[in-house]
Amino acid sequence: MFTIKYRPKSLKDFVDQKEALAKFLEWYKNWKPGSKAALLYGKPGTGKTCLVEAFANDKNLELIQMNASDTRSKKQIEEVFGHASAVASFFKKGRIFLIDEVDGIAGREDAGGIQAIIEIIKKSKHPVVLTANDPYDPKLRVLREYCELIPFGDIPVWDIEKKLKEICEKEGIEYDKEVLNQLAKRSEGDLRAAINDLETIARGKKKITLKDLEVLGYRERERDMFEALKILFKTSSFTAARLSVANVDLEPENIMWWIEENIANEYEKPEEIARAYEALAKADLFRARIINRNYWKLMRYMNDLMTAGVSLAKDEMYRKFTKYQFPAKLRYLASSKEEREREKERLKKLSKLLNCSTKKIRTEFLPYFKVLEKDKNFQRFFESMTSE
Ligand SMILES: Nc1ncnc2c1ncn2[C@@H]1O[C@H](COP(=O)(O)OP(=O)(O)O)[C@@H](O)[C@H]1O
Ligand SMILES: [Mg+2]
Repeated sequence: MFTIKYRPKSLKDFVDQKEALAKFLEWYKNWKPGSKAALLYGKPGTGKTCLVEAFANDKNLELIQMNASDTRSKKQIEEVFGHASAVASFFKKGRIFLIDEVDGIAGREDAGGIQAIIEIIKKSKHPVVLTANDPYDPKLRVLREYCELIPFGDIPVWDIEKKLKEICEKEGIEYDKEVLNQLAKRSEGDLRAAINDLETIARGKKKITLKDLEVLGYRERERDMFEALKILFKTSSFTAARLSVANVDLEPENIMWWIEENIANEYEKPEEIARAYEALAKADLFRARIINRNYWKLMRYMNDLMTAGVSLAKDEMYRKFTKYQFPAKLRYLASSKEEREREKERLKKLSKLLNCSTKKIRTEFLPYFKVLEKDKNFQRFFESMTSE
């Protein structure tokens, strides 16, 4: 992956973030046991993690790191840092600790996790760095008191373009200037996203043109859906919720799967989750009626139930950063597409042969057919009957 191959190994390759970098260096210079930790925060892909990695590399520090979102318990945190924080480095090198994505630490059950991090900050003989997307997450309120906050801004379009250009040149990819500019703009300050987009469109190519940007179309729609979910889940206005999906270029049914996937990511109280699913289930009934009766006027009830119904299921807004997820159902449908096509083909053949509807065959014959099919003789028989 380009983002790994071109990860800055030294601060020389680290772009932009001048203020953050200066603040970080100042913090490091003044750090002594008992000092505050540095909390680097900002949008994904702005260089929080790679700044610490590049710095450690330049200074020949031993970097001990852990991603807090994979962390389930106090015990795990103590296992990684507890010992290392109290003793001197084995190689007599300096050490630096990185606890990445602390806002990803799991909620309630992990109250102990945050406390363990605070203990490490207080006791550590080595500087501790934390990162987060949203440092104002209520979960981090107490932790914040032990941190010096260092904000990371969006990476400017110009710097993103420069980085993309550099990668193209090293990879021997010919490029249209305008393509790199478009990629940089659409990434909205997220350099990781821009580099990933470049890799997507350049895969297996010697030259990239504006036309290649089309393959990113789907990603664009996904991004719209993420924005829509943010509005839908955070607002308490009926109108705002129902309008949230108005500009999303996806089938209503697919929008419904997106909402379904993320209800339990956003809501934490069981009653809220239950109310949200209740609303979604009603929306789904309307969906079935719309299709069965071909009665599109019902669409607005489906829409209001799945948007406002789900939105108003909460008691109040969650002031947290939620990582919304791509619906598992849609991923499954995409991956099983070929198989479903094959099945459809078979159903068509059978319906001709048996002279009845595909629907009847699917429900009444297919289960038996799947058993019979295992028999070689039957297979031959079926093929001879259905070949043109
Ligand atoms: N300021 C930067 N300078 C150079 N590369 C960067 C910078 N910010 C991000 N990147 C690129 O984007 C990728 C993701 O950066 P990372 O530090 O992991 O982001 P974050 O931790 O802020 O989400 C890196 O692999 C690197 O290639
Ligand atoms: Mg990171």
